[in-house]
Amino acid sequence: MAEKNGGGKTCLWSRPRILFLLLGLCVMLAGIGVTVWAVVTYVLKSEGQNLYYVQVSSVDFRLTVYEETEGKWRLICSSASDSMVAEFSCEEMGFVRSLTYFVLDVNTAGTNGTSGYVCVNESFLPEARRLEDVLSVCECPSRWVLAVQCQDCGRRKLSVERIIGGQEASLGRWPWQVSLRYDGTHLCGGSIISNEWVITAAHCFPERNRVISRWRVFTGAVSQLSSQGLHLPVKSIIYHAGYLPFLDPNSEENSNDIAVMHLSNSISFTEFIQPTCLPALGQHLVDGKTCTVTGWGNTMYYGKPADVLQEANVPIIPSAVCNGPEFYRNQITPKMFCAGYVHGEIDACQGDSGGPFVCEDNISVTTRWRLAGIVSWGTGCALPKKPGVYTKVNEYQHWIYRAMKTQSQLSGIIEMD
Ligand SMILES: *[C@@H]1O[C@H](CO)[C@@H](O)[C@H](O)[C@H]1NC(C)=O
Ligand SMILES: *[C@@H]1O[C@H](CO)[C@@H](O)[C@H](O)[C@H]1NC(C)=O
Ligand SMILES: *[C@@H]1O[C@H](CO)[C@@H](O)[C@H](O)[C@H]1NC(C)=O
Repeated sequence: MAEKNGGGKTCLWSRPRILFLLLGLCVMLAGIGVTVWAVVTYVLKSEGQNLYYVQVSSVDFRLTVYEETEGKWRLICSSASDSMVAEFSCEEMGFVRSLTYFVLDVNTAGTNGTSGYVCVNESFLPEARRLEDVLSVCECPSRWVLAVQCQDCGRRKLSVERIIGGQEASLGRWPWQVSLRYDGTHLCGGSIISNEWVITAAHCFPERNRVISRWRVFTGAVSQLSSQGLHLPVKSIIYHAGYLPFLDPNSEENSNDIAVMHLSNSISFTEFIQPTCLPALGQHLVDGKTCTVTGWGNTMYYGKPADVLQEANVPIIPSAVCNGPEFYRNQITPKMFCAGYVHGEIDACQGDSGGPFVCEDNISVTTRWRLAGIVSWGTGCALPKKPGVYTKVNEYQHWIYRAMKTQSQLSGIIEMD
């Protein structure tokens, strides 16, 4: 987390710190409480349950989309663009990538609760921002419908929540959490989103930390000292060109604090190494919802990192509150958000820079954790009305997918708009 002190700002880019768990009494969330749980109407189509408008069956991988005006789920008719539509669908659902796709015969597959079909208008595909933009109701002349297996994400793979004792209980609990090390020193946290990509904060890469061969991604362990973890080399780091403090150290604007790292070799997932989901396209944050921030950090300001991964549950604070005069006074842009308790109880005041802020939801039927935020900055530690500030990941979905697609051949440290 980068540090902000009052009006002036000292940026301690690379001093990751611990999540402070403070017990207190006042929970001044009464005012916030009444405004929470606003329904995310335009993406989540209800049928009694709040589901995302694109779904993939866990049984036979058929894709379905919800047609809102009719209140019906429809199958997607196969076309010459199946591979693009499959990839688009996985991205849109927040599953990051498609592993494989195939077609099902409409006569043998059965409708199973769906009614009718939609076809893809391929002439719209190159310009489309959402799957919805290219679909229209049709009779499915090809008589084949599209099925896709997306990368699984946001789920723990331990059948039993292992309690090995004390804080080691978190092994396998946050399997997407990684430690980013420069010359072997833990500097930032990060999150695995696919077998080749890790997402983190731009501010982890100031000029002094830009020799790519000195970075390693440490994964598969909760203890920094574990001999079990893997140390993965990095091929490239792509950071957001709009992160202004790199251009002007006095910049008051900390938006676009986001970067992705491309691993030199792809990872094999295990029960301790798994990707998190991204938010589904168009999925909004829910003010007041309690989510989890995790990270290693320093037990003291200039101390050593905590050995064991820490976790804290904190609610999302509405930006209207967090921009108030006693809070951050209009420094919270629409691409950031705050989370924490106004007056203590549990306060994740200083999580690991670049690390995950994940929220659980059921919009894809199965309960999954999605990366809602990236630990970005804050003032001090455990101060009242100075909660942690996070990069709002749902504002960067297109940036993330574009970085993974257009920069994957390159090596080194790359800036991208
Ligand atoms: C069809 O729907 C039923 C009930 O919702 C479900 O149990 C079954 O797995 C579905 N089959 C397929 C192939 O999706
Ligand atoms: C696709 O959209 C274009 C432009 O609206 C239209 O002319 C064309 O008929 C559509 N094609 C299909 C297959 O619906
Ligand atoms: C998701 O569904 C499960 C099972 O119905 C439920 O226990 C859980 O509270 C739900 N989680 C969220 C975040 O809605």
